[in-house]
Amino acid sequence: MKKGFNLSIIGTGYVGLTTGVGFAYAGHRVICMDIDKEKVAKINAGETPVYEPGLLEGLRDAKKKNLIEATDDLEYAITNSDITFITVPTPEKKDGSCDLSFVEQVSKDIGRILREKEGYHVVAVKSTVIPETTERVVIPNLEEYSGKIPGEDFGVCVNPEFLREGSALRDFLKPDRIVIGELNTRSGDILEMLHRDFGAPILRTSLKVAEMIKYASNSFLATKISFANEIGNICKRLGIDVYEVMKGLGLDKRISPHFLRAGLGFGGSCFPKDVNALIHKAETLGYEPRLLKEVMKINQRQPYRIIDLLRKRLGSIKGREIAVLGLAFKPDTDDIREAVSIKVVSELLKSGAEVRAYDPKAVFNFRKLFPNITYCESARDALKGSDACLVLTEWPEFRELTDEDFSSMRERIIIEGGKALNPNRVKGFEGICW
Ligand SMILES: NC(=O)c1ccc[n+]([C@@H]2O[C@H](COP(=O)([O-])OP(=O)(O)OC[C@H]3O[C@@H](n4cnc5c(N)ncnc54)[C@H](O)[C@@H]3O)[C@@H](O)[C@H]2O)c1
Repeated sequence: MKKGFNLSIIGTGYVGLTTGVGFAYAGHRVICMDIDKEKVAKINAGETPVYEPGLLEGLRDAKKKNLIEATDDLEYAITNSDITFITVPTPEKKDGSCDLSFVEQVSKDIGRILREKEGYHVVAVKSTVIPETTERVVIPNLEEYSGKIPGEDFGVCVNPEFLREGSALRDFLKPDRIVIGELNTRSGDILEMLHRDFGAPILRTSLKVAEMIKYASNSFLATKISFANEIGNICKRLGIDVYEVMKGLGLDKRISPHFLRAGLGFGGSCFPKDVNALIHKAETLGYEPRLLKEVMKINQRQPYRIIDLLRKRLGSIKGREIAVLGLAFKPDTDDIREAVSIKVVSELLKSGAEVRAYDPKAVFNFRKLFPNITYCESARDALKGSDACLVLTEWPEFRELTDEDFSSMRERIIIEGGKALNPNRVKGFEGICW
């Protein structure tokens, strides 16, 4: 008997491809399905459509072992697998709610294919979906389009993903916990078997508890960041370095040092949209989530604090050349979704500044939004002749910059969001929270 499960992953973005490569690494056979033919072709050619440390090597290794393939044919993916993970997007709608249209469409299409398929197939929702979605949207669609009985003829689970971009594959392979929301014991048993070698605690719950664990986790982490920023904004006025303060807090085991880094606030494709979706859901239930609303308000204002400080130091921004170091929403990713750099660069341009930007990975994506700013080959290049420098992303390579790199600036005004620069190498810069 062949070892491992036959899996299909529907939607091969940051989460889907990481899930596919991760399960292949664990010895399972994986079919990655995406409607984006370019992504499919890239994966089959041994290239990754997104940047994540280790992902390219993992994909190539899995291909060599014949454990992974990509297709744009959903029927092929479903009929040749026993467990299907849904990893399509769940973006934010204009009213803040979670757009479930991708999940809805995919569950109908999977249902249609399951009608003809034999054997017990488990559908696991890995996309982040607002509580009750699996019960109210996914299962009814699977049931209607397959003509089969949920639980009895096919299984359904919610298996939220907690990976962080920038360390996605590592997080996937070494999770703190695995949450399995299950429609019935048989579905949960199958997913538990699939995850048994991961060495992480497995928590089995109902479908909507699993959905809520994901939203509660992201909302808590976002709250921690806004809390750190609030304390940081007070510290700045007191001439205190908030990083020293947070070190003192983080040593308390009840608090933990993670997600206490004050700076420009959280961006990315998850925290903003997930907190907003939970706020929206709470309001539809007749509850006003005041804490979460304040978390978002603090976060919305935070990126502009670097512009406030720049104005204070530089005076008028109009016609000045500003070097922007870091565009990705965090280090080690090319993702710019909801990145603070978008707000900062927009504000600089609105104020009439010339922007000279550098990022090691995210220029390709950023250029699609801002085709008319100057993109530089290196940080050193961006600094040449600039009137001020704003460091927005804590890329490790910025820690290597020295005073000499900054010596080509016309005026030496250096401001960072978090703590990107090394004070032993660079003198005379400040942060927005220290
Ligand atoms: N990015 C993260 O860090 C992260 C972490 C945990 C959970 N999540 C959740 O995972 C889900 C996916 O996020 P992502 O960042 O990987 O998104 P993504 O945009 O990077 O990838 C989604 C992929 O789905 C594909 N797709 C869209 N419709 C499809 C369809 N009908 N059939 C097949 N493929 C389709 C798209 O082409 C795209 O490649 C979201 O719900 C997100 O909230 C994301």
